[in-house]
Amino acid sequence: MDIKIKGTGSAVPKLRVTNDDLSRLMDTSDEWIRTRTGIEARHLAVEETTTGLAVEAAGQALENAGLKPEELDIIIAASVTADKLLPNLSCEVQSALGASNAVAFDINAACSGFLFALNTARMYLAGGNYRNALVIGAETLSKIMDWTDRRTCVLFGDGAGAAVVTAEESSAEKGGIISMLQGSDGARGMVLNCNNRPVNNPFVKNDASLSYVFMNGQEVYKFAVKTVPEAIREVVEQSGFSMDEIDWFILHQANLRIIESVAKRLHQPMEKFPTNLQECGNISAASVPILLDSVNKRGMIKKGDKIVLAGFGAGLTWGATVLVW
Ligand code: ACO
Repeated sequence: MDIKIKGTGSAVPKLRVTNDDLSRLMDTSDEWIRTRTGIEARHLAVEETTTGLAVEAAGQALENAGLKPEELDIIIAASVTADKLLPNLSCEVQSALGASNAVAFDINAACSGFLFALNTARMYLAGGNYRNALVIGAETLSKIMDWTDRRTCVLFGDGAGAAVVTAEESSAEKGGIISMLQGSDGARGMVLNCNNRPVNNPFVKNDASLSYVFMNGQEVYKFAVKTVPEAIREVVEQSGFSMDEIDWFILHQANLRIIESVAKRLHQPMEKFPTNLQECGNISAASVPILLDSVNKRGMIKKGDKIVLAGFGAGLTWGATVLVW
């Protein structure tokens, strides 16, 4: 069975906030943000919701794949900022699309979420009982930032990306997802977290402090520049291709310096690493599928191209895959 990405889609909120806009809200500057991260602007949700962005991206992915919503067997959404705790984001998307034949559930693996969801879909499809999956990464991270903490809030943005993944009879050519890996290190979870949630139990004393993202930037940086190249080396080795045969490396868009460091460690040119963090910032689980959709829609990837997708983030978690387009 070949498990292939057949269509992609993406959506970002209307409001575009530049580094200069942020410098009018807090003690920061375009120069600081741009030189430390590569980020120039991000889109922030005002009227948009995580569900609305996910539905928009999903609709585009279905259209791109030439599939009707009722043909979907599974919907898996990855998010840390779903609009509701119940029902899950995937069921909300199912309802909005009218994908009445799908089973729908969510995954929380932060910035690795899309990779984790894609691997889960792959295993469902490889089992033989399901044919068409919709995999989504969707976030409105602006809701959980501390907008007085300039060390974190300037890095993130909002948006959603989606991919339709289908199972087909194996062809003679090597096609679709070739290899995948996932990893987790819960012992280092404290370097990137978002803790408190109000507890309604009347017998529990509530911690009144609000819940914001906390990040130890330098520890996350060290984790990313070590783990991501190792994971990519391993997943490429599993695929049977050489590193030089890979045409595109589509990485989680956290920081341009991280991507440059990964490229250097893998001895690969930056031309193989498309980026959109300049315009989008870091959109956690949505960043890989939004970038994949962008390179797909711009016609940059050709049939037969070998692509690495890789994500890393809170948990700590990481995931990578090699696929042939
Ligand atoms: N504007 C101006 N100054 C700032 C800002 C800002 N937005 N943020 C921090 N500073 C100041 C600090 O206060 C500090 O000043 P001080 O020396 O007077 O105390 C100085 O800049 C340096 O701060 P550091 O935090 O040490 O800056 P660093 O060089 O480590 O860069 C950064 C911070 C960009 C976050 C870096 O650590 C990094 O890229 N980390 C990777 C983490 C990452 O990308 N996370 C994304 C989310 S995680 C994920 O997606 C998985």
